[in-house]
Amino acid sequence: LRGERLGEISGEVLEFISSREADRWICEADLLVDRAHLVMLKERGLVSPQEFKEIVAGLEGIDEDSLGEGEDVHEAIEAELISKVGAVGGRMHTGRSRNDEVATCIRIVLREEVLGLLTEVNDLAKALVERAAENADTIIPGFTHLQHAQPTTLAHHLLAHADAIFRDFERLRDSYQRINRSPLGAAAFASTGFDIDRKRTAELLGFDGLVENSMDAVSTRDFLLEALSDSAILMANLSRLAEELILWSTSEFGYVELDDLFTSTSSIMPQKKNPDTAELVRGKTGSVFGSLVAALAICKALPMSYNRDLQEATPNLWRGISLTRGAVRIMAGSVSSAKFKTDRLEAASGAGFSTATELADSLVRITKIPFRTAHQIVGALAAKSETPTVRDLDEAAERIAGMRPSERGFGEDELAAALDPEENVAMRSRTGGPAPAETRRMAVDRKKRIEENERLIVEMRGRVDRALSSLREMR
Ligand code: ARG
Repeated sequence: LRGERLGEISGEVLEFISSREADRWICEADLLVDRAHLVMLKERGLVSPQEFKEIVAGLEGIDEDSLGEGEDVHEAIEAELISKVGAVGGRMHTGRSRNDEVATCIRIVLREEVLGLLTEVNDLAKALVERAAENADTIIPGFTHLQHAQPTTLAHHLLAHADAIFRDFERLRDSYQRINRSPLGAAAFASTGFDIDRKRTAELLGFDGLVENSMDAVSTRDFLLEALSDSAILMANLSRLAEELILWSTSEFGYVELDDLFTSTSSIMPQKKNPDTAELVRGKTGSVFGSLVAALAICKALPMSYNRDLQEATPNLWRGISLTRGAVRIMAGSVSSAKFKTDRLEAASGAGFSTATELADSLVRITKIPFRTAHQIVGALAAKSETPTVRDLDEAAERIAGMRPSERGFGEDELAAALDPEENVAMRSRTGGPAPAETRRMAVDRKKRIEENERLIVEMRGRVDRALSSLREMR
């Protein structure tokens, strides 16, 4: 490539500017891009059918391991091709540049990664929804500020995590539409005077359309920033789930036992069963954020159009996306195999006077006092004890509101009902609430969504696979 223009490049400089390590990700994609470009060049009469045959035959058998030196995979493939088929191989680069080539390659690999991630995210949602469906009647403590707040159900809790994961799915699916567009044919940035057909190469490579403006096409990496942002948000959601698994598996909580497979022991303390995988999900979340911030910082303030800085963004994409995919798979396995200690959860569900809200609500419904008054009465009780009697209630109400609930139909039975965690949950049957009937409805709805998502992925993948397998047949 450098020829007589620049002369040889030295070892350390070559190493400095090389993208060969990260280019392992795109080598196969680059060979597909070469092939699609050649098919189009032949169809437009820019290479002859004979030249096409020779060049494509030369591409066969080239892979990462057969390549020699070169500052990037594109250069190395071309050099290898020319060494195999001679000067005719030099026709392959007609009407294109490494700038549109690399952007195309990254999009091809990223779309595969996103399709894989979508499947994994949907599988995680499925694991959460399935565990939720088993636990519609499992009463557990609900927290705010990590203090006992109100009783809820395990189904409600797990469905809350699932809904966050569904939104991650939607974000990735939405980004996919912008990832799966072809920059090919933009050449260096100014397109080309050769009579190429960009729509044809886009179609051959299974893209859903073009990144039309040729200057935009080679210079933008916003599609990659978007995938990393989606990944970072997904990891933020996963880290919340991970944190709870860690906390819930302590002996202080004792709400869950993780399957042995997802835990480690200590090299010194033989009794230990540590939640290492969940901790690493929490830790890797930081690394994914790092990948996003690195890529953003690299792309920031770059003038039009291609700048070599862009090469530095790409490894962050591969790192961020593979960390995310690994974490999603691990969480799906952890959730599916976790043993929830339902007895302990149920026993804890009334702890910390978590039924106080319902006690105040019941006072309002039965005695017709305003909610704020009831809140004050119950607050006064809570300051003294977690298990108030009707007498305590009457005393506090008398003092605060000049009335006695027992004289307005609020007796032992009403108090017992208000203090029963199961009753608390059963009453909260409004849309999205924890009542068993409502979480069962949500679980059924979410299961349908999981199936729809599965169909969607098959359709998206089918479009790509059909295009690529016919492209691979073209000789
Ligand atoms: N390795 C480069 C990258 O990843 C490929 C494009 C190089 N283009 C150039 N004009 N030097 O961005």
